[in-house]
Amino acid sequence: MCVRELDVSGLSPIRLGVNIDHVATIRNARGGRHPDPVHAAEIAIAAGADSITAHLREDRRHINDEDVERLKEQLQKPLNLETAATPEMVAIAIATRPHAACLVPERRAERTTEGGLDVAENRQQLTEVVHDLSAAGIRVSLFIAPDEHQIEAAVAVGAPVIEIHTGAWCDAVTTGDAARGAVEFARIAAGAEFARRLGLEVHAGHGLDYLTAEAVAALPQVVELNIGHYLIGEALVVGLGGAVERMLAAMRRGRAMAKAAS
Ligand code: PXP
Repeated sequence: MCVRELDVSGLSPIRLGVNIDHVATIRNARGGRHPDPVHAAEIAIAAGADSITAHLREDRRHINDEDVERLKEQLQKPLNLETAATPEMVAIAIATRPHAACLVPERRAERTTEGGLDVAENRQQLTEVVHDLSAAGIRVSLFIAPDEHQIEAAVAVGAPVIEIHTGAWCDAVTTGDAARGAVEFARIAAGAEFARRLGLEVHAGHGLDYLTAEAVAALPQVVELNIGHYLIGEALVVGLGGAVERMLAAMRRGRAMAKAAS
């Protein structure tokens, strides 16, 4: 595979995609229409979010089909739809035409998206799905672990973007396992650099809080973070707008570190 030298000295700004799934989780705990994920998305955008992310799961445990339609119709910023690469979800994505689709693995019993997509093992299927979504004008990203063979496979199936799964690193940081945290962060940094050299756009997400978002924003190759659970939890304490503003400030501090180092 051809490895290109890319100039990353002209640092790209970093974007924040706010995942509003857990607003729907709270709504669904009681049924009815409150709190409304579309309203939450509008608050996040007003506070500076660059895009809104929503995961339509097969079991519709949080976001439902009507939410996706309303998000697409009403939002003034891009919608990033997370979906499994199944025929049902791909058809919904093509009918909805969000700005972006992030393909994720999905296991019914998991509490959240636990691992990255195994692109290397599913090349043929993913090549078709990436082609169909791209042909509908949707920017496709693949949610993967920062492993070289998965990154190479992402290029091979034609994806322009990857989102690096930061969950293992964030778990290590949260549990105070500094040694594992250092190893996991080094994997993310190396994966981001490798992916960028292969010409991929690099995003990151899962389990990020203010501290970890600041650290990952210091990686110059990463141009978008998608963050949900922590922001919605913080919304109980400082309000959703306040949490988004604090998150953006943390990301800017990280980016300033990358600038100073470049
Ligand atoms: N990115 C992807 C692809 C995800 O599946 C998720 C979880 O839905 C997130 C980011 C956000 O993770 P968290 O809710 O832990 O911030």
